[in-house]
Amino acid sequence: MTQNVSVIGLGKLGASMAGAFASRGFNVVGVDVNQRSIDLVNEGHAPVQETDLEEYISQNKERIRATLSHEDAVLNSDISFVIVPTPSDEKGSFSLQYAEWAFKEIGKALAKKSTYHNVVLTSTVLPGATRQGLIPILERESGKKAGVDFGVCYSPEFIALGSIIRDFLNPDFTLIGEFDERSGAMLEDIYSRAMVNHQKSARMSLENAELTKISVNTFVTTKITFANMLAEICEKLPGGDVDVVSNALGLDARIGRKYLTGAIGYGGPCFPRDNVALTYIAKELGVEAEIASTTDGMNRSIAAKVADRLIPMVKPGSTVAVLGLSYKPFSHVTEESQGVYVARQLSKHGVRVVAYDPMSNEMSLDDLRRDFVVLDSIKECLAQAEAVLITTPDPAFKDLAAADFKNEWAEVLVFDFWRTLREQLKDAPGIKYVGIGTSEDDAANTARLKKLWWGNDGESNGASGK
Ligand SMILES: NC(=O)c1ccc[n+]([C@@H]2O[C@H](COP(=O)([O-])OP(=O)(O)OC[C@H]3O[C@@H](n4cnc5c(N)ncnc54)[C@H](O)[C@@H]3O)[C@@H](O)[C@H]2O)c1
Repeated sequence: MTQNVSVIGLGKLGASMAGAFASRGFNVVGVDVNQRSIDLVNEGHAPVQETDLEEYISQNKERIRATLSHEDAVLNSDISFVIVPTPSDEKGSFSLQYAEWAFKEIGKALAKKSTYHNVVLTSTVLPGATRQGLIPILERESGKKAGVDFGVCYSPEFIALGSIIRDFLNPDFTLIGEFDERSGAMLEDIYSRAMVNHQKSARMSLENAELTKISVNTFVTTKITFANMLAEICEKLPGGDVDVVSNALGLDARIGRKYLTGAIGYGGPCFPRDNVALTYIAKELGVEAEIASTTDGMNRSIAAKVADRLIPMVKPGSTVAVLGLSYKPFSHVTEESQGVYVARQLSKHGVRVVAYDPMSNEMSLDDLRRDFVVLDSIKECLAQAEAVLITTPDPAFKDLAAADFKNEWAEVLVFDFWRTLREQLKDAPGIKYVGIGTSEDDAANTARLKKLWWGNDGESNGASGK
């Protein structure tokens, strides 16, 4: 029963995993290629920013050490979790260049090891990558055989940035792709002792696990996109309200309510790229993954659609405020964020865009500031905006009142994607409130439906089926 684990790659996931394992009594050796990360961990500090990570590392520092040496880590642990970047490449696949280098170093260390060692790839990869791309490197460098001298698993985590440690320790299930029974059983035993709330393990082949990992994100994004489609339909129905529809749909046990809130599209470092990757691998296998490619296409078209809808509603040269630049509340990550995409799209149309995010102090803003203005407060944004777009459901936007939107413009247009301010703003004088996913004009929507069912002349037509 091993207590000694190593984690290769001390980034957002790896450092969190190291802190989480140590908090559960495991001895952890962390490896990174970045000396500063090593120094920080050895001083008892988090090498990256993530919720609770500083406390997990500092409070368990007697059980965590970090090194630049893969050999040191492999020789002083029984299992290594490899959690290095696998960036998307130009084809839409995930590049293995960092993983290949890590596996090469691990293979060299395995050559010097006489006892069994399990190598677990945690980074996101596509089907075939572990067995075809990485195991041969381990065998070549070590001169040993997988399944005989060492074990191999593919076991990704299902975590969200901002709650990585909590998600890691309390998974819905653990996914174990195994080269053989022995490596899978060893990993399952470790998880059963590491997880606070250990649910089922799903054990399977490496390839099935690789597909399962990207399928989770692809399915969730499909659900988000479906809800966004419902939101658009609701805007065309008298009294239409996507929350009412989603709440009811969520009661069906086959569907569930999570990720079914029609609003604006998804973003961040994982969701968008996983649809692209699934589309790519399916095509390479001779399968058209139309759901994944359509979901991706619909998500990427949102910013342009928002701009096309908003531009005719504002005066030329006016200022538009975008509240929310991160891809989700409490995050400083702006990668593939809809707020940023919308702000850029509006700028392209010649609108002056001012933006604010509660986390902007922690964001890298240089790139964003080339396209629009980022201000220090909501107040500064609202003081000048003829139109305001609220792109994330951040609680910081929840307490805004109609009076906060008053400025030189006689009427301020508010696009509220998450309907955060619906009660406060929908009938407020001086505000034209657009609650995304709710009926935009009951009278016009009623007339449209009436025409569909009864035609222009009041005679029933085909749509009624009469
Ligand atoms: N960030 C997420 O939300 C998320 C979610 C699920 C899965 N993933 C996957 O997890 C993996 C890691 O993501 P991350 O966000 O932690 O990345 P990250 O960039 O934050 O960290 C990666 C770390 O690996 C180090 N590294 C690179 N090559 C190395 C090597 N050969 N040996 C040792 N260390 C090395 C880097 O210096 C860096 O510290 C990726 O495959 C990603 O797709 C990420």
